[in-house]
Amino acid sequence: MFDLHCHILPGLDDGAQDLTVSIEMAKAFVTDGVTVAACTPHILPGLYQNSGPQIRQATAELQHVLDEKGIPLKLVTGADNHITPSFVAELGSGHLLPLADTRYVLVEPPHHVAPPRLEDLFFSLLVAGYVPILTHPERLTWIELNYKTVQRLAQAGVWMQITAGSLLGAFGRRAGYWSERMLDEGLVHILATDAHDVKRRPPNLSQGRACAAERVGDIEAEHLVVTRPQGVLMNLDPSSLPVPQPAMSGSEPVYDKRSGNSERADTGRSLAVRLRTALGIR
Ligand SMILES: [Fe+2]
Repeated sequence: MFDLHCHILPGLDDGAQDLTVSIEMAKAFVTDGVTVAACTPHILPGLYQNSGPQIRQATAELQHVLDEKGIPLKLVTGADNHITPSFVAELGSGHLLPLADTRYVLVEPPHHVAPPRLEDLFFSLLVAGYVPILTHPERLTWIELNYKTVQRLAQAGVWMQITAGSLLGAFGRRAGYWSERMLDEGLVHILATDAHDVKRRPPNLSQGRACAAERVGDIEAEHLVVTRPQGVLMNLDPSSLPVPQPAMSGSEPVYDKRSGNSERADTGRSLAVRLRTALGIR
């Protein structure tokens, strides 16, 4: 498997705090069946003052350590690029980083506020020839009121990455609901760990893959963690990669906002309909 989003580089952000943790994470990735991991620390002015050259150097240094220790994990460069008005220009200057120097770019919006002109940013990236990958939309608190925006972006060619832990319940029922719903609707291109350590937010891609397979089947689950991320690393044209497949028949994901209860089976459908109606989502 290939993990395109993790915070394994030591001391650059809220991920691995030191080299010891980075090495533990690398071992955990290998044990889990991951052969290539993209190092994607936050680039967030004012909080995480990282930049492309610095990430390249840190990635090379950690790769050297892993090679010396015989840990068979290949690292590639990338960044958790938080949105900025000059995003395209900063990619061009090398301050922001795409994944492995390809056309594919992780883009992280603010978690708690729907940014104005978000669609303009994504369209400017598409026009510039990039394939933006929206990171973990299922965990954005504003997704409920802006789901149509997410759907429109996906239709326009923006890729969607959800977090393995969301499917596993690690981010609560709300993120669980939206991750399942987006999977079911065939909107998700990539599943990634967004791992930060080995305990609280560990490498867990195989577990996430198994969860996804229950909803969309083994073949689509493989596309989420192998086919498409490998295509990204090879910089293949997105049109040459498989289109996400919606869920096989089965229960709808359910999140009851008022009680926090998650239910399935017979009552699930009516609760899902009520939630969508309440949110004005068709
Ligand atoms: Fe991240």
